[in-house]
Amino acid sequence: MTWPDSSSSGIGSQMAFGRGKVILLGEHGVVYGHPAVAAGLDRGVRAQAAPGPEDRMLIEAWELSVKPSAEAEPALARAFAGALLGLPAGRPALEVRCDVELPAGAGLGCSAALGVAVIGAIDEALDIQRDPASLQARSLEWERIFHGDPSGIDNAVAATGGVIRFSKDEGTRALPIARPLHLVIAHSGETSSTSEMVSAVARQRDRNPTRVDKVFQGISALVLNAERAIADGDHRKLGQLLDLNHALLASLMLSTPHLEALVSRARAEGARGAKLTGAGGGGCMLALVDEERVDHVREGLVSMEAEVIIAEVSA
Ligand code: MEV
Repeated sequence: MTWPDSSSSGIGSQMAFGRGKVILLGEHGVVYGHPAVAAGLDRGVRAQAAPGPEDRMLIEAWELSVKPSAEAEPALARAFAGALLGLPAGRPALEVRCDVELPAGAGLGCSAALGVAVIGAIDEALDIQRDPASLQARSLEWERIFHGDPSGIDNAVAATGGVIRFSKDEGTRALPIARPLHLVIAHSGETSSTSEMVSAVARQRDRNPTRVDKVFQGISALVLNAERAIADGDHRKLGQLLDLNHALLASLMLSTPHLEALVSRARAEGARGAKLTGAGGGGCMLALVDEERVDHVREGLVSMEAEVIIAEVSA
């Protein structure tokens, strides 16, 4: 697995940006209405739309040229068709160039970043002023094509960045952060499908709702405490909460041997805490690390042949 590199597409001014994300705490529970905390990354997807001979979406990193289509497959064509719905009559055909800086299927919100960037680029090109609620609704439609019935957290943070608390009922709230968070994110090399992982949890919940809902209640309590720890700059406590969240996610069989090895290594190298992030079943782990130990933890993970990115997150 190689992290896609930015810089080669020649996309210039007036581009729209959708951020990648990590979920700090609360994934999966958020699908059932519980709160979660996510942070936007500096990496994401940049897109630019300009009049062209026909509607087309070009994704150089994946060597894809996609025309809109209402057919079920490919999903990207259907998502693009959705993003073009309801635009002003008489608009020009649009060529949307996308520069993807995120791996797909890694739990870093690639599809949501792509949706937010494409919708933003179309709006820019046609001078459409869209309010945040409308962007959230439209990008959630995009996400539904890829992930079934997503909570909406990925596309929310793709649009806002920063650190947010999100729940289905209460929507998005920016969280105050006392100190920047230094995150080391490592890819397990295993791709995973969010919709399959969400379905796997749903099957467990069908079989044993009491057990799974208790896990979600436990995760909710961790999220509440994490909000306070982030506001107070208490990274020792936040790290412990990440570790506990990982254990609860692992109890839902969302971890893998490789994710476990990465989490253990990050902790052994001095991370404050570490957990899988996103849907699990592969994808990435994140570690909260004191700034002076970032290089050390990164080297430990790279020596396991993991692809690693470093993120500093502030308000
Ligand atoms: C995926 O990034 C997070 C999940 O909670 C799914 C969702 O919120 O839609 C696993």
